[in-house]
Amino acid sequence: MNDLLELTKVTRRFGGLTAVQSVDLRVRQGQIKAVIGPNGAGKTTLFNLISCVLPVSAGLIQFQGNALNRLKAYAAAALGISRTFQTAAIFHNMSILENVMLGRHMRSRRGLFRVAIKTPGARREEKAIREDALQWLHFMGVNDRFDSLPGELPFVIHRKIEIARALATEPKLLLLDEPAAGLDIRETEELAACIQKIRDQGITILIIEHDMSLVMDISDEVCVLNYGAKIAEGAPRDVQRNEEVIEAYLGKEH
Ligand SMILES: Nc1ncnc2c1ncn2[C@@H]1O[C@H](COP(=O)(O)OP(=O)(O)OP(=O)(O)O)[C@@H](O)[C@H]1O
Ligand SMILES: [Mg+2]
Repeated sequence: MNDLLELTKVTRRFGGLTAVQSVDLRVRQGQIKAVIGPNGAGKTTLFNLISCVLPVSAGLIQFQGNALNRLKAYAAAALGISRTFQTAAIFHNMSILENVMLGRHMRSRRGLFRVAIKTPGARREEKAIREDALQWLHFMGVNDRFDSLPGELPFVIHRKIEIARALATEPKLLLLDEPAAGLDIRETEELAACIQKIRDQGITILIIEHDMSLVMDISDEVCVLNYGAKIAEGAPRDVQRNEEVIEAYLGKEH
């Protein structure tokens, strides 16, 4: 299988702090790859770099062979990179359906402006976007109350809405930042099934997750960050047994 995403010596500094340090990472087409590591290891920063929310300080990020350096986030989304955020980014003054429809509009710089001007073409496009959003909500197992405000619904629904919105951008690569945070065991299992279903659609997944049983269950490969640097990478079982990884999580005395 080909590499969809390739990071070469990627570094990001914030003043004197190096949040991501010379990281090499390859994500193959069709993989579910996990990024794990202690708090502050640089995982979210890595996602911010891949989704072009932040520029790299040094190094190269290539997506399908194209360099992402200097691209804006909407341009990365247009290329097929979509993401969710560590704290579910839901708009509470918009309905569930509108939250998901926003995904398609986020792909283009003019998107929101075009929605505001209701030409017949725009109305047709709006209808198609609406149907598409409904389909992704069904896919995520959200089957009713599309016109409700999300605030009234359980947190797991917020997560699903956010993932449905990311899917509505028709990504090739989906970045999930701690999607199981705040979910109970049953909800986490449900989410795991959803993630596998997304991969079965041909979408490659890079997931940051603290829930180790979820990581072990669904990942083909795991990459471990500590203090911004990659300290291990490989099959979940091997990474779990790696001395340096155990030390990073539990401290030297173990
Ligand atoms: N915009 C920023 N400005 C300054 N420092 C930042 C910024 N974003 C992240 N950092 C710092 O970079 C380091 C890595 O943070 P990051 O959020 O990437 O870690 P993480 O691995 O996602 O942690 P967690 O598991 O807690 O989510 C931390 O020391 C953090 O304080
Ligand atoms: Mg984080």
